[in-house]
Amino acid sequence: MSRHLLAMRLLEPTQITEILSTAAEYKELIVGGGRVERRNEKSVGLLFFENSTRTRVSFEQASHYLGYHTVNFSGAGSSMSTGETLKDTILTLRYERLEALVMRHQASGSPVLAARYFDGPVINAGDGQHEHPTQALGDALTILERKGDIQGLRVAIVGDVEHSRVARSNAWLLHKLGAEVRFVGPRTLLPSHTGKLPGTVYYDLATGIADADVVMCLRLQRERMSDGLLSSTGEYTRMYQINRSTLRYAAAEAIVLHPGPLNRGVEVDDHIADSDSSCINDQVTNGVFVRMAVLDWVFREAKEAQLA
Ligand code: CP
Repeated sequence: MSRHLLAMRLLEPTQITEILSTAAEYKELIVGGGRVERRNEKSVGLLFFENSTRTRVSFEQASHYLGYHTVNFSGAGSSMSTGETLKDTILTLRYERLEALVMRHQASGSPVLAARYFDGPVINAGDGQHEHPTQALGDALTILERKGDIQGLRVAIVGDVEHSRVARSNAWLLHKLGAEVRFVGPRTLLPSHTGKLPGTVYYDLATGIADADVVMCLRLQRERMSDGLLSSTGEYTRMYQINRSTLRYAAAEAIVLHPGPLNRGVEVDDHIADSDSSCINDQVTNGVFVRMAVLDWVFREAKEAQLA
């Protein structure tokens, strides 16, 4: 039986800390100029049905460091353009003997369908508005590096929570590791059923980020919004942008995260995005190491199952 990474909601805290600890070890090794010991080669399918820069490239880079092959696949230019279903696509990749799938898709839950038909690990690289677990792992490693622990931190997730898979995965991870989670944003961009997510809702930025140790900004996802959810980008910026003036409400040493891609001057102003408070570049770097750890984690389970 294969081990998958489909949602942060499904992981135990011990599994999260195990992955984070492996990622930190990989980072120390690679940044220190070391190499990962050569292991059995694996072929990893990178299936991206939506655009990506950070996630796709970091899975490529993680696979390269681990000595694995990658096979790139996108909907455009494939037989899905002529009507082949996702199920038949997954079965095709299975019988072409790919050994793991990393999948980004616009439909929430699609990696679960992939896991049903694929004969190996499936890693969710972002599914619709549902989850983006490897982003949350990279964010957690970044917070750990800056703050030392996640337990007891106040983390404000600001902006378009409704359309954000990053917000959902982060909320689960941070809650499981003992942080206080707050969702901050306009009523129209916060989920109508926040009761299902671990966190408290704030509509006012100053109150929501008061004394926060971590301010996590989210991209306005215009492509997933229907008209009328936001009166104007300018109004959003005036009310919810993180800048020198608004960051004063947070704790003195507060750090600012943004998963990217950043709408510069909207969610965060240039000054904060390029300041020492900003962790944006660290989040990108750590994305590579958590993805190495995740590939390790899913394949280790498969190997243990084979030997049992
Ligand atoms: N944060 C993130 O998922 O970025 P990409 O869309 O560039 O992969």
